Amino acid sequence: MAGEIGRKTDHWGSRFGFIMAAVGSSVGLGNFWRFPFTAGENGGGAFIIIYLICVLFLGLTVLMAEYAVGRKSGMSAIEGIHSLARAENKSENWQVVGWIGTLGSFFILTFYIVISAWVLAFIPQAFDGTFTRFADEAARLTAETGTTVSLADVSSTNFGQTISNKYMIGTLLAAFIALNTFIVARGVKGGIEKAATFLMPAFFILLIGIVGFALVEGDAGAAASFLLTPDFSKVTMATFLEAVGQAFFSLSVGSCLMVTYGAYLSRDTNIPRSSAIVASADTMVALIAGFAIFPIVFAFGADPAGGPGLFFVSMPIAFSQMGALGVWVGGAFFLLALFAAFTSSISLMEVGVAWLEEREGVTRPGAAMGIGFVLFMIGMGYVFSSDFIDFADIITGNIMLPLCALLLAVFAGWILSREMLTSELGEGTIMNLWRFMCRWVVPPALAFILVLGTLTKLG
Ligand code: PFF
Repeated sequence: MAGEIGRKTDHWGSRFGFIMAAVGSSVGLGNFWRFPFTAGENGGGAFIIIYLICVLFLGLTVLMAEYAVGRKSGMSAIEGIHSLARAENKSENWQVVGWIGTLGSFFILTFYIVISAWVLAFIPQAFDGTFTRFADEAARLTAETGTTVSLADVSSTNFGQTISNKYMIGTLLAAFIALNTFIVARGVKGGIEKAATFLMPAFFILLIGIVGFALVEGDAGAAASFLLTPDFSKVTMATFLEAVGQAFFSLSVGSCLMVTYGAYLSRDTNIPRSSAIVASADTMVALIAGFAIFPIVFAFGADPAGGPGLFFVSMPIAFSQMGALGVWVGGAFFLLALFAAFTSSISLMEVGVAWLEEREGVTRPGAAMGIGFVLFMIGMGYVFSSDFIDFADIITGNIMLPLCALLLAVFAGWILSREMLTSELGEGTIMNLWRFMCRWVVPPALAFILVLGTLTKLG
């Protein structure tokens, strides 16, 4: 039939390449920038236990569902869910799940690129020794004004000045978007997979170096007791919503991103095993990032609940204390964050591009450039009023991701027949367990957390 959308023809080149791309998507600013301040604001240890439960019981189930739906349909999320519903003679309205996910991933990307531009701005600052001059600056201002100006004051002023330099951030934003567009335009195998296969191993080498340093130089004991001592008195339903949102954000679940990546999966890739690898790698990096950041935060007396500024204000304070070494550790740290952010932002962009390129007359480079242009326009809006970032983060993280995941679990567990997904997940214990979770655990748990968590937050 004319105009009928076919299966994707581009595929991952190898299983290793796919795992690098999928881990690259999961590991990102969610682990470095979002996880530490969310854990810090929600009490540390208790939050982390709830977070781990969310990853294991909710995140992993939905991750498998996303890959299964994606590979079964072989199309973009919106068209794929539509075609599977039709194949089962079910309502075509289910494609709304694809829409929520695709729009959610687009909204996340609109602010994700701005935070990435901030990271980009901090790399030259680290290498040119800006942070190492903080102490002198604090002393000078203290002498000049007669009131004590602390390192934290100097660092937050630096952060504020950096992100309000709109011309510079705008230029970095354009550069970052151009790089994303270039890679995504080259395709899944020739662009995304190649970039991830190069960047992810480099990322892990840098990560090991930084953690080693943090454990030796920082206050690992205080970090361990903060991260590992649960204080359940602070836990409310809102904590559960934050933990679910953080787990999904970090795993790249609930935005149909993994449905999209699943469409390029070859038959010989084992979905349950790949899901377990991706979930454990991402969780390990989040915990490792916590152990890289909190020892430094505690050793130098910063505020663990410092909000979105924790990353950009506290880390430079820490680097400012390390003498000449701070230049290298700081530079490596922001470079690490940039690699992680980039392999995630290309994956977020792919969700929309995969759908757009299915329209008649639209090519992949055209789709990528179109999305890149719109991203720049919206991104510039955040550059001018960064307060909206918080708002967009809450709407996507606390509402869209859990809602999309909830509907996707219902779709995969109740709407699609067991036989439909046998080809993806096999038959036996794993299928039984997964289907049970998808039907009886994930939907009620998410509905409960979404409703009560939102009420607690509003109340
Ligand atoms: N998982 C990535 C991160 O943790 O930074 C990015 C991301 C992808 C966030 C998909 C949210 C999402 F829905």
